[in-house]
Amino acid sequence: MEKFKRVFLIVLDSLGAGALPDAAEFGDEGAHTLLSLSLTDQLFIPHLRSLGIGSIEGLGFLGTNEFPKGAVCKLSEESNGKDSTIGHWEMAGVISSNPLPTFPDGFPDEVINEFCRLTGRGVLCNKPYSGTQVIADYGEEHMRTGDLIVYTSADSVFQIAAHEEMVPLNELYGYCETARKMLVGKYGVGRVIARPFVGQPGSFTRTPHRHDYSVEPPSETVLDALKAAGREVISVGKIRDLFASRGITEAIATSGNDEGMEKTSQAAEREFCGLCFVNLVDFDMLYGHRQDAEGYAAALSRFDRWLGAFLPKLRDDDLLIITADHGCDPSDDSTDHTREYIPLLAYGKKILPVNLGIRQGFADIAATVAEALGVEYDCAGKSMLAEMTDIRAHLAERAVSATAHSYSPYSGFKVGAALLCGSGRIYTGCNVENAAYSPTICAERTAFAKAVSEGEREFKMIAIAGGNGGIITGICPPCGVCRQVMSEFCQPDFEIILAKPEEYECHTLAELLPCGFSI
Ligand code: THU
Repeated sequence: MEKFKRVFLIVLDSLGAGALPDAAEFGDEGAHTLLSLSLTDQLFIPHLRSLGIGSIEGLGFLGTNEFPKGAVCKLSEESNGKDSTIGHWEMAGVISSNPLPTFPDGFPDEVINEFCRLTGRGVLCNKPYSGTQVIADYGEEHMRTGDLIVYTSADSVFQIAAHEEMVPLNELYGYCETARKMLVGKYGVGRVIARPFVGQPGSFTRTPHRHDYSVEPPSETVLDALKAAGREVISVGKIRDLFASRGITEAIATSGNDEGMEKTSQAAEREFCGLCFVNLVDFDMLYGHRQDAEGYAAALSRFDRWLGAFLPKLRDDDLLIITADHGCDPSDDSTDHTREYIPLLAYGKKILPVNLGIRQGFADIAATVAEALGVEYDCAGKSMLAEMTDIRAHLAERAVSATAHSYSPYSGFKVGAALLCGSGRIYTGCNVENAAYSPTICAERTAFAKAVSEGEREFKMIAIAGGNGGIITGICPPCGVCRQVMSEFCQPDFEIILAKPEEYECHTLAELLPCGFSI
């Protein structure tokens, strides 16, 4: 059964949330797109802040908000790359172990020879080149010989430029289709692009008849699964291109962020059951690549203003997810993308304001979308939905995570606890052992001591998880001393959640300590 009727998944293209641990391997050590934006005087994002962007680990500089309205986390990229295609594929459930190929020295002879054989035309240039410069430098020769101008860039692209009067558009598009079919495997570039132009030598100009031919995702994406299950998959912006139209039931083209936001608002007024997947490309294309931090920050502020008007349009069974696909730090020393975490904010009437920490892999988004819309989809990702909609499931997960800090060199038994207070805050704790054994502090009491010492006096529930070596195979009920401590601070209906892998069971304090000591 679906839990949500409509999911709006909005990708703020290139809005990275700080360098990934392996960023140095990509030449991106220290990159941080959001930090660069925050250093301008153009960033005004009250709605993103109210959802909790500043609560995401490491983003406190954006302004923390004690009681955010959304669920938040940041996600690391599992794929070996940092481009839009691979980023979007991963959030749709497909991990790429190899980056899409780039050709800094042009395409090898075997590619060019085969292309010439199939098209019956020669090739000019075959190097990375600026799109306007390439027609200025090779346009005349192209007009004279009829050879096609083939060039690439720092991205994984095979671009074909031709004069519209020399090579009719349909013919150019046919050559692109030929190239697309040919460029597979190690030559499987992200996009083949038709770049038609018009005009006279010295004043050639590109026409709006550009056309992109994307490489298909190598395996089933969540979009394919949604479509096969009869859900709608509405693409807004370049989503359709990134998935080579696969798994999409309706595509809405846009000219940039403003139109993308407008079309998304219009989609929110419509009846549909499925996913509205939006990409806002200006952040990357107009500001990230052009190293324009001020412009980028102003564009994000503009998105934030739009968001303020969009949030009230959401219905009870809608889920909004705002995220990114990679970084493009406008203040680093390159115009290229940057290998960064992506931020994630989820909001909806059924979504709890929980902090899901740092997640491994964008594919958690695919798993979450599939579960939200009630569609079976198998991928490497783990759905965040239970944690976002069920506070007990969230506390259970937090207790499991808290075992990681356990100091238990003597018993080897790691315990974690997560205590929810009346204030809405969650305090975690772990067991802290001692060579003299008796001074050992249990995980539950660590959590209580943290909370009480911060002034908390009202407690709602605690989750507990534990296991030998941190491997949790069964429940870990609280010891007698901890039950007595709970009876000091909690009512008999205080809930005690015993976490098992992917499951939990609930008890009350009255059940677990029927006859506690009191004076
Ligand atoms: N432990 C807890 O942290 N909580 C309990 O309620 C039971 C026991 C810890 C104490 C010790 O470090 C380890 O588990 C093995 O007894």
